[in-house]
Amino acid sequence: MNHKYVYIHTIGCQMNVYDTSRIIAGLQAIGYDHTAGMEKADLILVNTCTVRERAEQKAFSFLGRLTALKKENPRLIVGVGGCLAQQEGKAIFKRAPFVDIVFGTHAVGRLPARISEIEKNRGKIVDIEFATFIEPILPSTTGTSTPVSGFVTIMRGCDNFCTYCIVPYVRGREISRDPEEILNEIKAYADSGMREITLLGQNVNSYGKKEGLCSFPELLKKVNCIDGISRIRFTTSHPKDLSDDLIHCFSRLDRLCNHIHLPVQSGSNNILKKMSRKYTRELYLEKIEKLRLACPDIAITSDMIVGFPGEIDADFQDTLDLMKTVEFDGLFAFCYSDRPHSPSVHFTEKVSEMVKKERLQQLLNLQETYTRGKNQTHVGKIETVLVEGRSKKNTETEPWVCATGVAGKADENQYTGRTSTNKIVNFLWKGNPLSGHFLTPGEIIHIKITRALSHSLWGDPVDPGISSQDIKGEHYAA
Ligand code: SAH
Ligand code: SF4
Ligand code: F3S
Repeated sequence: MNHKYVYIHTIGCQMNVYDTSRIIAGLQAIGYDHTAGMEKADLILVNTCTVRERAEQKAFSFLGRLTALKKENPRLIVGVGGCLAQQEGKAIFKRAPFVDIVFGTHAVGRLPARISEIEKNRGKIVDIEFATFIEPILPSTTGTSTPVSGFVTIMRGCDNFCTYCIVPYVRGREISRDPEEILNEIKAYADSGMREITLLGQNVNSYGKKEGLCSFPELLKKVNCIDGISRIRFTTSHPKDLSDDLIHCFSRLDRLCNHIHLPVQSGSNNILKKMSRKYTRELYLEKIEKLRLACPDIAITSDMIVGFPGEIDADFQDTLDLMKTVEFDGLFAFCYSDRPHSPSVHFTEKVSEMVKKERLQQLLNLQETYTRGKNQTHVGKIETVLVEGRSKKNTETEPWVCATGVAGKADENQYTGRTSTNKIVNFLWKGNPLSGHFLTPGEIIHIKITRALSHSLWGDPVDPGISSQDIKGEHYAA
């Protein structure tokens, strides 16, 4: 049979990673196999992001690399999808004339038909129409982070319109998927061996509200009952909507991981107001306190923007002060970037690039001490770790088996996994020579942490021959 291949380059957030998996599943139906080699591809797609100017530049620099490939092979089909495609529409053709199709964030389900059209008639297509529903497609697991862990988008779009943000304009109005459909999708993943699910939405806490579906905590409770799913995560929760009911889920639901990503963006009430975030630093700190009361071990990460228009030094000091109060486990920090459509483009008092960079560096230096400090608190403790597979440098040594007791290269038995608090743990697994036990991704094992590095932990298996099947007294669905 004559195989066709699709290569897809993904930029941006987890939503794009999820959409990429749906694109791959859809294209499989019209005869395309997914390939990791660009030279082999008949169809090359880039799934883009536009949240900051740099993301936009990344997409165009990737497209620049394709000019030569398209010259060599004029039959090659090139498509640009995602948020930048939604923003730019046919303007993409001006910057990259060799592109055949521009498809927006709501066009993923229609893509296979569009590609078939191009195969037949050639010509250029722009499909950036917004839809009023989310079409059901069962995504393949390809393209998600690891086979044991995957994303499920539970809602699309955003109605919050934070003044700096382009997302509501390129993802459209907020709309939630039917809970039954979400649960069926997760069950299918669980049956295929996935153990960890991350539920995605720009603001999961408003899940179902508009449509009168179940609430987000209710959805979590249902996911918590799916056989085979050992761990549940979600992102992102908007602080203004973080309810007590959701906070209590961290103490009530055994499979909900001890981690929340709660973007604060700034520690200054003045800036939060200009950003239209609709909460104060006091309210944010109150929610943090409640979270820690409900779940003392919870890891808290956040997003921060420095150099928002009008941010004076006193505002920035408020941000540093909030960081000192909360001590985040991790922080994603960005220099403010003007985005099309967003109201802040028109705000005067822009902060200079130099000041933004200085503030970012100062903030990152401070965060480094907290990240290290938080990691350090794990040393000496026994952590429950979901095995993701061999450490990166060993990934080429498939299959996923570690022959027990067999002497190999020094680091052949180096594995990686995550704690419930989402910290990466590396460890050596020598297996159990008696039972011949193999370590496979998706197993849950106990690791005693021996060392904390800046962005990961090292440890020793408590008993290198025992894994989830053998550990008593704890519930593991693996
Ligand atoms: N829905 C999520 C955020 C999605 S965008 C939420 O509300 O938390 C991811 C992050 O990008 C944001 O949290 C913000 O920190 C950052 N961001 C968004 N627009 C930006 C801009 N114009 N400049 C710099 N950073 C921005
Ligand atoms: Fe953007 Fe705000 Fe919506 Fe998040 S909540 S996607 S930052 S508008
Ligand atoms: Fe980027 Fe779109 Fe996600 S703008 S951050 S890919 S929602």
